[in-house]
Amino acid sequence: MILQWQIIFCLIFTVAYITADSDINPTCLLNYLHENQIIIGGFRGFKARKTQFNEPDATCNERIESFNNNMYDELLRLLRNEHETAEIADCIIDQLKVLKYGDLQLQKLFYEGSKTISKRKRKNKLKSIEFSIDKQLEISLKICSPEDIFGEFFDELYNSANQTSDEDSAESDYCLKKHLSDTNFYNKTAYVIDMNPKNIDISQINCDDEYKIALDAFEEAFEEELQMEMRKSPKNTKTCVTNAIRSTKSLEHNLFAAILGEIGVTADERAKERAKYVTAMDQMYSKLMKCNY
Ligand SMILES: *[C@@H]1O[C@H](CO)[C@@H](O)[C@H](O)[C@H]1NC(C)=O
Ligand SMILES: *[C@@H]1O[C@H](CO)[C@@H](O)[C@H](O)[C@H]1NC(C)=O
Repeated sequence: MILQWQIIFCLIFTVAYITADSDINPTCLLNYLHENQIIIGGFRGFKARKTQFNEPDATCNERIESFNNNMYDELLRLLRNEHETAEIADCIIDQLKVLKYGDLQLQKLFYEGSKTISKRKRKNKLKSIEFSIDKQLEISLKICSPEDIFGEFFDELYNSANQTSDEDSAESDYCLKKHLSDTNFYNKTAYVIDMNPKNIDISQINCDDEYKIALDAFEEAFEEELQMEMRKSPKNTKTCVTNAIRSTKSLEHNLFAAILGEIGVTADERAKERAKYVTAMDQMYSKLMKCNY
């Protein structure tokens, strides 16, 4: 079984960064970001230089709005070039608006043009903003196209199930299979799973620990995935991620996909289980989406 979740869930997304032209002046941009509490602190350089925080004027707001509109139009065009259907492309744009993707682009614009922040600090900020931009795109794609994306994950897990035969993982394999069986996660009449094909000594294994290790690794992979701007406290986010994963039995669904690959099932069974997997992962992502916002 494969437990390298990060590798499996890593998508290759080819939409290039948008380099939208903008006629927003730095004061307007800073006012907007400040007013909307998008950048809190981290711009002491401005305060030190006594930058005035004016009330945002009407033309400033108009320019911000037009920047956002142009940016989303450009993104829609890029998505259509990537052969996304109109429905999926529109869904991605809507999802990105919920995530306040435009605010990330405005932050990017701000830090790119900011002359008063040290080069090193600016570089780090931009790196983390670009990371969030990528993540928001990936997550939106998963939510808008679950059949394609999660279906692919299922196939990946299923098809590569026989490839790993790491001796070290035999205990973990045994325990995780046992867990699925003990909790009646799957139909035991339909699927006969050999818990211990390698005949390892199971008398000394603490299966509770093995399950916990697997669950922790799984949850960590998603916490990493969700490290956008943490709008809630990291502790609340962690609890929310944990709930999203456990309530949808996502770890179990992923393990089971790999186990099905190991035993080999009929095309009908595979299609049925694939659909269940897609539903579960879709539900998990919908819940995860609410963890940061
Ligand atoms: C379990 O699988 C068997 C054999 O395929 C089937 O007859 C039975 O209806 C299934 N049970 C459930 C609860 O799906
Ligand atoms: C894995 O191996 C088993 C046993 O040899 C086989 O039945 C199954 O179809 C294989 N799975 C894949 C995905 O090739």
